[in-house]
Amino acid sequence: MGIDEEIKSVDKNARKPDVEFLPVRVSTFDDMIERRGIERGNTVLIAGGCGTGKSTFCMQSLYYGAMKGEKGVYLTFEEPAEKLKRHMWLNFGWDVDSMEKKKLMAVVTVDPFELARSVEAALMKQRGKLLIEISEMSMPFKPDRVAVDSISAISAAFVDNPEHYRTYLRYLFQTLDNYNSVNYGLVETEQEPQVYSRLGIEEFLSDGVVIFYHVKKEQHRVRAVEILKLRSSNHVKKLVPYRITERGIEIFESEEVFV
Ligand SMILES: Nc1ncnc2c1ncn2[C@@H]1O[C@H](COP(=O)(O)OP(=O)(O)OP(=O)(O)O)[C@@H](O)[C@H]1O
Ligand SMILES: [Mg+2]
Repeated sequence: MGIDEEIKSVDKNARKPDVEFLPVRVSTFDDMIERRGIERGNTVLIAGGCGTGKSTFCMQSLYYGAMKGEKGVYLTFEEPAEKLKRHMWLNFGWDVDSMEKKKLMAVVTVDPFELARSVEAALMKQRGKLLIEISEMSMPFKPDRVAVDSISAISAAFVDNPEHYRTYLRYLFQTLDNYNSVNYGLVETEQEPQVYSRLGIEEFLSDGVVIFYHVKKEQHRVRAVEILKLRSSNHVKKLVPYRITERGIEIFESEEVFV
């Protein structure tokens, strides 16, 4: 057998039995991904302007996951947990409290400024161990999915010390690596993001990038989602229309954004 045939004859999945893809479970989003999910251990950036539905997308993924018994931790650095949960209940009827009671979900408020102070203190004393404790402190159980809402808010709290910000992010996502979870890092961008490389995010955070657009078309705006990159699978390359309705994010893959 020649080398080409030998490579072709190798069953990719058989060689790596520990590779597991976790569906996103948001509307028909998984139809946009050839492997119908995201590889465990990967971190995907969820980028978009304000009000584009980043928080809704992640909460929907965690909530629908919880309905299948998959555990989700939502770390909220912007809105307090109670407020976020109330909005999810009022807007979409998702009863996150009941999922928390069943230990399938946890929504945890983290004050980014308090966090920044603890991290600075830990680094001043060169106590890496304390820093690991800080990254682990918000994990009530071993999660299948984690949302960090948002990386932009963490970055803002470390504005005087970008070096410490990078150190903290590295520790946080290294900790998540141990859980083998799918991680969403939310990033606030312009309403019509043009330059993705300037998200100010480290390379180790981008196994994938999903962008939510709210673009102006004559007198109104249209919503579209794009998988810009996903290292673990082939995926749809075009902008796909979505709406936010009383059922959450709804994706319309067969429709065109600009007609
Ligand atoms: N029941 C609903 N029906 C239709 N649209 C809704 C409904 N509930 C919320 N929305 C829309 O969802 C938007 C908020 O989505 P979400 O909070 O997930 O966005 P975000 O990208 O996280 O925003 P931010 O940058 O402010 O954190 C609102 O601006 C509103 O337009
Ligand atoms: Mg949000």
